[in-house]
Amino acid sequence: MAIFGATDRSIVELTNTDTTEAIHQVEANYDTIFTWDYEKGARPKLSRLYEKAKTSMWNAQSDLPWDTDVDQERILMARVEDLGGFDRGLDLSHTVFSKWNDQDWVRFGVESQNWTLSQFMHGEQGALICTARIVENVPWIDAKYYAATQVMDEARHLEVFSKYLDTKLSGHYPINIHLRALLDDIIADSRWDMTYLGMQIMVEGLALAAFGFIYQLTGEPLLKQLLRYVMADEARHVAFGVLSLQDFYQQLTAAEIHERQEFAFEAAVRMRDRLVQQEVWERMGVPMADAFAMMDGSADRQLFQQLLFSKIVPNCKKLGLLDAADGWLRKKFQELGVIHFEDWTDTAEEFEVYQVASGSLEAASAE
Ligand SMILES: [Fe+2]
Ligand SMILES: [Fe+2]
Repeated sequence: MAIFGATDRSIVELTNTDTTEAIHQVEANYDTIFTWDYEKGARPKLSRLYEKAKTSMWNAQSDLPWDTDVDQERILMARVEDLGGFDRGLDLSHTVFSKWNDQDWVRFGVESQNWTLSQFMHGEQGALICTARIVENVPWIDAKYYAATQVMDEARHLEVFSKYLDTKLSGHYPINIHLRALLDDIIADSRWDMTYLGMQIMVEGLALAAFGFIYQLTGEPLLKQLLRYVMADEARHVAFGVLSLQDFYQQLTAAEIHERQEFAFEAAVRMRDRLVQQEVWERMGVPMADAFAMMDGSADRQLFQQLLFSKIVPNCKKLGLLDAADGWLRKKFQELGVIHFEDWTDTAEEFEVYQVASGSLEAASAE
């Protein structure tokens, strides 16, 4: 995996040019592992997680109120009124934004939501594929059992985001080129623990934080309930990653651990700095320099970017990745200003807090 500077904007500015591709093929060369050791419960924590997963299945069609009327523009306007208008307190006089009227801002909000939910949907397909891979290449039966439940969870997530986009929002976006590159790199790596580290710890850790942020922000009841259900599953998925890798990483050499640290760090920076709605700016006719001027000055965005690390940092700590190799990753997270999350709750046990059972929608949404 090539490591680029976090602020190399010529890379960030790239957008997907093959937007009509219907199928995307990634070459991968990995071992498929059978195990003849069928002793269930040999890894008790994974076994417990598997039992939890079986009773936490929900139905994307019947457990969510799909008859909810969603008016994107109206919801957006209500939020803007709550915030006291469109003025972000930034000096944007030299940018294209100085010419924008309220309607342009509303359209931007709508496109931005379409883009975000589209990337969630594509990311869910990434998770579906990665967990199918884990079923094949993890060597322990308890992990294969659990991963099989996650394949079903991810299919359901893909289904709900896709349905929400189709029936409630106003347009899809193709996968962002940087998200696709990250998923490709995770999939192309032949080592089984890298699928876990890339997907379960990094991508899902970040997604869990992002879902939580939007869950708090949105006043749209269907999206809120949908996210609450998805988050309950995602917390379990991140726990699966932490519980599976914890012991394994203790057996690795310092050099092998350092490789994992670099892999984790690069994935984190790529997700934080490169997923900047390039396709929305393009569609809205905003030059990237102007887009950066707005993003750089936005306190909301900076807070959001920090919060994206709120699950990743404690989980990396739990895996022993922060302080191995002379604290290489600790120093990197210090430089990013996110090390203060290290003692936040790690996700190994947190899934209990997020737990919702099918049919308990009211309880979940009343929180
Ligand atoms: Fe998911
Ligand atoms: Fe997941």
